[in-house]
Amino acid sequence: MSNDVREIVRERYGRAALRVLEGKERASCCGTGGGCGSADPITRDLYDAVTTATLPEAAVLASLGCGNPTALAELKEGDVVLDLGSGGGIDVLLSGRRVGPTGKAYGLDMSDEMLALARRNAAEAGATNVEFLKGYIERIPLPDDSVDVIISNCVINLSADKRTVLKEAFRVLKPGGRFAVSDVVIRGDVPPEVRRSMELWVGCVAGALEASDFERLLREVGFENPSIEPTRIYRVEDARSFLEEAGLDVDAFAQAVDGRIMAAFVRATKPAAARDAAGAPGAGVGAGAGAAAGAAGAAGAAGAAATSACCAPACCS
Ligand SMILES: C[S@@+](CC[C@H](N)C(=O)[O-])C[C@H]1O[C@@H](n2cnc3c(N)ncnc32)[C@H](O)[C@@H]1O
Repeated sequence: MSNDVREIVRERYGRAALRVLEGKERASCCGTGGGCGSADPITRDLYDAVTTATLPEAAVLASLGCGNPTALAELKEGDVVLDLGSGGGIDVLLSGRRVGPTGKAYGLDMSDEMLALARRNAAEAGATNVEFLKGYIERIPLPDDSVDVIISNCVINLSADKRTVLKEAFRVLKPGGRFAVSDVVIRGDVPPEVRRSMELWVGCVAGALEASDFERLLREVGFENPSIEPTRIYRVEDARSFLEEAGLDVDAFAQAVDGRIMAAFVRATKPAAARDAAGAPGAGVGAGAGAAAGAAGAAGAAGAAATSACCAPACCS
């Protein structure tokens, strides 16, 4: 089941990347109906004009996020940043600039077409401290404790195995590392068939978490201080034509769902002395721990791979 979802997602986003690679057309993974294209209420105006003016046109055209995590995340000179589901690379390029020559920005994506587009954009931008990795966000090809900040833009909602994604994020973050992602979340109860249609509209193929479930999952895999801050609240009117095409009587449920689906900025921190869910200090968590060992080379420039958990100021003096 989860592999089926991933294949559908890969196919849709692969096609979206090809449209940009072949003709500089704006990317969209939506089917028919309103809400897509340049006036798309989800992807429009996420980045200000000053920011986009300095990026390759194709990186901007390929933007398929629902927020701007680099504007909200705290990124410092020298940080190692990882973007889960990096698409055409817009947030990786922006992160690379923020962390400077002593830092590094990785993008991770499963789509060959998106990776080709992102690498072309990076070359056009002359970015030398960025690298795009092929892989799944459910099995991150980086070592334990190797990343300072995880960003992502409208991708975790697409995964059929969000707990594993969050475990993997926790595993690769250094103790004290920050999780700072934009994603679609739901607030409260929304009728399942309406929710499914709204999610399809927002995320092409989607499965957004309810806000309190997202916070709970973050805590369960070991993060602390989770918080969710809405950045754009979607109105039923934005999705009316899409929902009507899907055969739904929009007026019948408008009141019940209006404003319940939103883009949000989700933050959490890996404790400075991290423990995994079983309470063992610093042990690798989840399926990706093994994969990480095999892919350690990919993280060479991260200069990290520190496996010791003893990094709290009190125990490392
Ligand atoms: C909505 S687009 C967002 C792209 C980019 N973050 C942006 O803001 O433009 C989702 C991207 O995530 C990738 N993706 C989706 N699910 C994935 C998974 N399970 N593992 C790796 N990449 C995934 C897709 O190939 C696609 O490039």
